[in-house]
Amino acid sequence: MTIDHPSFGRIDNDRVIIFDTTLRDGEQSPGFSMNLAEKLRMAEALAELGVDVIEAGFPVASKGDFDSVHQIASHIRAPVICALARSGGRNDIASAGEAIRPAARGRIHNFISTSPLHMKYKLRMEPETVLELITAGNQAARQFTDDVEWSAEDGSRTDPDFLCRCVEAAIKAGATTINIPDTVGYATPEDMARIFADLLARVPGADTVIFSAHNHNDLGLGVANTIASLSAGARQIECTINGIGERAGNAALEEIVMALRTRQDVLPYSTGIKTQNLLRTSRMLATITGFDVQPNKAIVGRNAFAHESGIHQDGVLKNAATYEIMTPESVGWTRSSLVLGKHSGRAAFRDKLKAMGYGEMDEAHLNDAFARFKDLADRKKVVYDEDLVALVDDEARDH
Ligand code: KIV
Ligand code: ZN
Repeated sequence: MTIDHPSFGRIDNDRVIIFDTTLRDGEQSPGFSMNLAEKLRMAEALAELGVDVIEAGFPVASKGDFDSVHQIASHIRAPVICALARSGGRNDIASAGEAIRPAARGRIHNFISTSPLHMKYKLRMEPETVLELITAGNQAARQFTDDVEWSAEDGSRTDPDFLCRCVEAAIKAGATTINIPDTVGYATPEDMARIFADLLARVPGADTVIFSAHNHNDLGLGVANTIASLSAGARQIECTINGIGERAGNAALEEIVMALRTRQDVLPYSTGIKTQNLLRTSRMLATITGFDVQPNKAIVGRNAFAHESGIHQDGVLKNAATYEIMTPESVGWTRSSLVLGKHSGRAAFRDKLKAMGYGEMDEAHLNDAFARFKDLADRKKVVYDEDLVALVDDEARDH
């Protein structure tokens, strides 16, 4: 299947559009707000990373949000710049349209809840009113741009027949991307695959738009749900750097992109992401927000390519593929780090000393230094380079 898209032209079926919402959904999480200058720096980094769409903010929410979308739209040229709006909000669409006006390519993303729970308790609206607002919102957005996205908020908990009616209304009213969020991170991969397969099979005009996945991580399934959505026909994924976002966050961009790249055998999709920039972009976000990523975070965590156990270290020294499914360099690390601790073996110890400039040691000295190292490692969790310097110097003095 090939789709003609107002911003991207003809898109081949295997190409996945990367829609980054770090600056909108990511920034919405407590403690992660960024000022204008910080948002601009992040937007530049995202453009260098090669994302296709930057969701820059929710202009009607505040003057600060409006200004940052407007500034990003004025300065960042390569990606599509997207602004969020409520389908039924009073000034939302006009404000979003104004904010993206300077963009080389601009998108308005309008959304409304479609699940019974949200319609009854949050919106206090009848389903028929929601359908009317979907039509009105998308038609209004098309007055500002040809690139219009519509989202069914809480889409994964929406009645399937009603979801089909909503999507059909959105397409008829001019939406060119249809996003089905798992807003509360409740869905399983099977649920998401079924939803996309159902929409693609049943909705008239479904073959003329791009379907998009937007998965939250409340059950830790954000990335798995995104991959299942792709396999069922979605071709845009909404994600954030480091997986930041409301509550437990959004699906992490770096994890999805590297899953696609590493498992081309079963996930034959391409993206425009320069994966060597992933670490740098992750670090920039951590520095700006003041929240470091957990050490065991896939791809960008401090330990993602660190090997401490002796058996693993020995394997990696002989052939890195034994314990590394992708190269650290491919995501921006300079090399995998052999962390020395009580599980480390002699081979890693010798390799580390060589890397530190100690050259080859004779067997007796090496054995002695290794015994001292093991003794130290039993007392300390991790042995740092400075500990090794002290240890080897002591050893040399005693001989
Ligand atoms: O999670 C969600 O439903 C959203 C929408 C606004 C797209 O972020
Ligand atoms: Zn969201």
